[in-house]
Amino acid sequence: MNYHIFTLFPEMIEQGLNTSIIGKAIEKELIRLNLINIRDYANNKHNKVDDYPYGGGAGMLMQPEPIYSAYKAVVHQHKETYVNKKPRMVYLTPQGKTFNQEMAEEFAKESSLMFLCGHYEGVDERVLEEVVTDYVSIGDYVLTGGELAVMVMIDAISRLIPGVLSNKESTEYESFQDGLLEYPHYTRPYEFLGKTVPDVLLSGHHAHINKWRKEQSLLRTCERRPDLIEKASLSEDEKKFLKKHCKNL
Ligand code: ADE
Repeated sequence: MNYHIFTLFPEMIEQGLNTSIIGKAIEKELIRLNLINIRDYANNKHNKVDDYPYGGGAGMLMQPEPIYSAYKAVVHQHKETYVNKKPRMVYLTPQGKTFNQEMAEEFAKESSLMFLCGHYEGVDERVLEEVVTDYVSIGDYVLTGGELAVMVMIDAISRLIPGVLSNKESTEYESFQDGLLEYPHYTRPYEFLGKTVPDVLLSGHHAHINKWRKEQSLLRTCERRPDLIEKASLSEDEKKFLKKHCKNL
């Protein structure tokens, strides 16, 4: 996966993603980060990339030319990739569609993705119209720029790329598997602050363990995220179980 990230703060993203699992994935070349500093494409001697909004109003806007020049340069550098394919360019904005696991799965199928990080009060509309294919928000709150948002997206997408996570099970059994939250986990010691590990987990009986875990997933989802229960496709038995045990139903 090739990520091309257009930003005014490449060092922030570089540092944020160069550690831990994503850092290792970069080292192993399972993913590649191409950080493009939009300021390098400013066409004036002061390297200015922002200006006042027409019509007045607070703050500054990112000007269209440096972004467009940077975009064109990257498309040209990778022209074999984009011969019969328009680049997929994600613009990070609170006005976008809210990012979720399903979107992460869809983006993970691509072999290259571009991201545009806005700053100041926003970006001139004309360049967005020209280059952006997807408007994505990471949640209903306003950040100072798109950099943290792009890191969130790249983390969530990259862990779905084969080889990035070493343990196969960590993608198999996880929150949002079947649209449900994950069951609780326990490790040693057996007793902690007077609380012991549920007996079933020590039984060695895998069918019982799986049943218990499924029930815990159902209960936890119903209690913490009842909105997900409405969307999940549950069997009649599962629905019955929740009617009996979850006060939210
Ligand atoms: N930029 C500013 N706020 C944002 C958000 N919530 N999601 C994505 N990009 C943003």
